[in-house]
Amino acid sequence: MWANSGAFEPGRDLLVALDPVRKTDSLERALRDAIRTGALAAGERMPPSRTLAADLGISRNSVAEVYGRLTGEGWLEARVGAGTWVAASPGRLEPGPASIRRRRAARLDLRAGIPDASAFPIGAWIAASRRALASASTSAFGYGELAGALPLREALAAYVSRARGVWASADAVHVTHGFGQLLALVGGALVDRGARVIAVEEYGHELHRDILRGTGLEVVPIPVDGDGADPARVTADAVLLTPAHQFPTGAVLSPARRAAFVDWARRGDRIVIEDDYDGEFRYDRRAVGALQALAPDHVVYAGTASKALTPSLGLAWGVLPPSLVDGVAARARLAGAATDVLSQLTLAEFLRRGDYDRAVRSARVRYRARREALDLLVATRLPGAHLGTEQAGLQCILELPPGTSEKDVMDASASDSLVFDGLGTYRFGAGAPRPPAMVVGFGAPPPHLFDDALDAAVVAIRAADASTHGL
Ligand SMILES: Cc1ncc(COP(=O)(O)O)c(C=O)c1O
Repeated sequence: MWANSGAFEPGRDLLVALDPVRKTDSLERALRDAIRTGALAAGERMPPSRTLAADLGISRNSVAEVYGRLTGEGWLEARVGAGTWVAASPGRLEPGPASIRRRRAARLDLRAGIPDASAFPIGAWIAASRRALASASTSAFGYGELAGALPLREALAAYVSRARGVWASADAVHVTHGFGQLLALVGGALVDRGARVIAVEEYGHELHRDILRGTGLEVVPIPVDGDGADPARVTADAVLLTPAHQFPTGAVLSPARRAAFVDWARRGDRIVIEDDYDGEFRYDRRAVGALQALAPDHVVYAGTASKALTPSLGLAWGVLPPSLVDGVAARARLAGAATDVLSQLTLAEFLRRGDYDRAVRSARVRYRARREALDLLVATRLPGAHLGTEQAGLQCILELPPGTSEKDVMDASASDSLVFDGLGTYRFGAGAPRPPAMVVGFGAPPPHLFDDALDAAVVAIRAADASTHGL
């Protein structure tokens, strides 16, 4: 039976299968299961007993009795005169493995490249969405253009030209659902024109390598050092680079290497995919401009709204060389890869009114402060460890004290409900690995958990260090 009452907020359904004979017991079991599995989340308001009773066709007393029992067990919390909520730590009195996992998984997060979700500018986004919808033409409510809504492509072309020095016109912009989809479309278009091999940095996301493999490309590693990816001896038809801020080692591609990659691409009519995932976030000096400006005919410039706004929006964009525009469009058609038009129009409005710049500026201020806090923490509490020096992005490398292993730190972190990855997690390649290091994603925790996350990281590193040295 579907309980579709206004009670779970308008339109919120909860599937409740009631045993026709033992209705009260089965409601109790269904609600407990829904809380345990997360279908009803902590803090969620329960429907008033009268409403749920009407929806389910049982007596109000039965519902009140179930609420009373679950409140007594700690699954629900009741406030007199205000209502009933799912408890903040549901299931305290019956901590099954699932509930433990859920709390652990959610508590402290230092994964790389994740922005602070609590900073999303909700008010400005709602206002932009209202303006975008109010001024949208009827055609905006039909099927969208595969390459993206024109107002957004125009706004993005203007933004990336101004903020990142990219050569861009609306015709060259292709909007996708996240960077991963752009990579799939570009990889596919490269295969269609005869490419067989793509080189990627020897540290990076496994997902991105898998997506490229999925297009049929062979993926090979390029060594990375303090000057970024090394173009010497790259044998491939294309490369995927993070020039402004190598992910996750942090290096900036040196001017000599930028020139060498551009030369390499021009000589063999090859393609560089420039993943500019956090190019707006530099804290120490002027931004490192886009590589694409040196060779717009050979570089796919890729940006994303995931850092400045939120990954949940799922909007990314490519500025394509003319030779790839049709090929990417053809792949998008085959993939059925059109992006939600209404979100695109809202982002266009957001960009046009300067809201995006404001979001970037305020995020920069917050992340710079976090980066500084991290510097101080390592200097004062982890004297044997070394933090990368670059002041940029949402993550940096922390070299561990001599003898300490990444695995020991990850194991110690997991037992303190901290998600904290070693550099080896991102490794792809056969060359000599770097010294053991952790990747500190200082963007991820919401403000109230930032200090706790750093404390837990220090505790984990010290514990791993002590076990290494037999303390
Ligand atoms: C290296 C790198 N590239 C690109 C992205 C952006 O991906 P998306 O647009 O799918 O969020 C990320 C996000 O974390 C990233 O870390």
